[in-house]
Amino acid sequence: MKGLPRGASFTMTHTQTKGETMCGIVGYTGTRQACEVLLEGLSRLEYRGYDSAGIAVQHGGAMEVICRTGRVSQLRSSVEAVGVPGTCGIGHTRWATHGRPSEANAHPHTSCDGRIAVVHNGIIENFNEIRERLAAAGHDLRSQTDSEVVAHLIEEAYPRACAKEGTDALVRAVADTVEQLSGSYALAVICDDEPDAIVCARKDSPLVVGMAEDGAYVASDVIAMLDATRDIVVLADGQIARCTPDALTCFARCGDDLRTFDAQTTHIDWDMDVAEKTGYPDFMLKEIHEQPRVIRDTLAGRLVGNSIQIDELQLTPEELNLIDRVYIIACGTSYHAGLIAKNLIEGWARIPCEVEVASEFRYRNPIITPTTLVVAVSQSGETADTLAAIRDARVKGARVFGITNVIGSPVAREADGVIYTKANKEIAVASTKSFLGQVVSLTLLALVLAQAKGKMTSGHIRQLYTELANTAELVERVLEDTTAIDEAAHACTDAASALFIGRGMGAAVAHEGALKLKEISYLHTESYAAGEMKHGPIALIDEGFPVIAIATRSAVYDKVVSNLQEARARGAVVVALATEGDEDIRAHADHVLFIPPVRDAFSPIVASVPLQLFARSVALARGCDVDQPRNLAKSVTVE
Ligand code: M6R
Repeated sequence: MKGLPRGASFTMTHTQTKGETMCGIVGYTGTRQACEVLLEGLSRLEYRGYDSAGIAVQHGGAMEVICRTGRVSQLRSSVEAVGVPGTCGIGHTRWATHGRPSEANAHPHTSCDGRIAVVHNGIIENFNEIRERLAAAGHDLRSQTDSEVVAHLIEEAYPRACAKEGTDALVRAVADTVEQLSGSYALAVICDDEPDAIVCARKDSPLVVGMAEDGAYVASDVIAMLDATRDIVVLADGQIARCTPDALTCFARCGDDLRTFDAQTTHIDWDMDVAEKTGYPDFMLKEIHEQPRVIRDTLAGRLVGNSIQIDELQLTPEELNLIDRVYIIACGTSYHAGLIAKNLIEGWARIPCEVEVASEFRYRNPIITPTTLVVAVSQSGETADTLAAIRDARVKGARVFGITNVIGSPVAREADGVIYTKANKEIAVASTKSFLGQVVSLTLLALVLAQAKGKMTSGHIRQLYTELANTAELVERVLEDTTAIDEAAHACTDAASALFIGRGMGAAVAHEGALKLKEISYLHTESYAAGEMKHGPIALIDEGFPVIAIATRSAVYDKVVSNLQEARARGAVVVALATEGDEDIRAHADHVLFIPPVRDAFSPIVASVPLQLFARSVALARGCDVDQPRNLAKSVTVE
């Protein structure tokens, strides 16, 4: 059988398994007090999730290092208590994967003599053997991390580098060190002997540098330096940069030599509002309110005449028509977007569609042929399991299509084609606006497949597109008045556990509602297809147990109502998510959250929003930080 064409963008890199991969790096050398710049930058990176933070600052040829477990605000208090003067320094937020969260494991790590400090993101895969060799040579390794070996390797390399003519010693010492490392790294290094310099290097872990009027900035995520400069250099794998207050010099290896080159600058034109709460009490609420805009932007330009266009698929209608199986692979919330899409792809295009969590897909042997389409959904575009599943699917011959929010992310680079959800940067760890962007993008994909398979008339396509576009307005209406949501949340705040149920589209909405609530409020939740109640979960229900039922108007409405009656008869506090105008539902529920009438196919777009607000309201009432829930990271780059 003729297969689908393949893109040429595939770049295979190793699968990340452990190490400091979800962390954040900042660096500054210039005219300002470094500790202030570093703490500001680290605060900008807090959204990624972390459990310890630290800075190292140079002052007159001596290094001050302060690390703390917990929040950047705790680090700030310690820094302010002692005062850390100096205009050159590096900082780090660490999300522990390799050694528990502790001050000893927090970065920066220093050499034995304390004259060199290093922050590292990535994984040093051969760190055990390096560590043994360093220990045998008398180095005093004080942490359990892989990263610490880098400081000691530079300490060994530095005297050799000083003995050589030419390139600055720290650059050469870092270059010699990275030659000894396997794995991935983004590094920023300072040294007492070159008190105003930061040397950076990277491989398979992002790092950007930028010059501003007041000095040079370094970060693993551009958001940490956007206040200072929008013109940045994205270091490529293998490159090294030396930053001083008035110069940025980039080096690339050329045989045994290091050669300088003119780095290309990229201008960042994001609105800085993405990194600000702009009057909202938290990023989560701000991002929930951005959802109507996300729906509109994701749909813009997709209806041409009476047909849906997704040119990024790079498949002709004939090639699309060949697709006979779809796998959607994703994790967490993105997986729930996939569950919604399965209903649409099978219902409209009549193509068998399986949705699988990426960590399962990658370790089994799915049936993949040249006419299989694999759709990888990932907000961050960095999720390790999803990336591994993409690589695996490509090796097995599938055409892989990515849906992601991050331009140029690994998912975008490694898929054959990509749709970008137009959510813009999402800061809160709990995904809200990205989820809606994913659902809308997947809905477009389902329409394109139905169109290619000749399952819909152009009039039908136009009608559905118009209704889909109208969901933006419906979401706006949900956002207008949240009184009922807050009241229902209040009734559930002290519960020990909650059950979410729904059928059809409502089941997927229930799964996502339950995940949102558990991840930000730490309240134990379960979610089930409502028909499963009598097969086990109903045993959980006793007096006061919250049951959140997705009971919007659909073909299975009566069935859901029966399920919530069963729950109520056993003492459950029932919160029903229902369709405006359905006054009968009040007789079966303690709290009703109404959404405007919407076609069942698009109901998850509207119905998810009150559940996001519900989760946030419960979490706030329980005293939780809704933007940075414990133990979670924004990008899950480890298996
Ligand atoms: O970046 P991804 O979409 O690949 O991330 C997948 C999950 O880690 C993510 O959706 C996670 O479940 C969120 N915290 C949900 O709010």
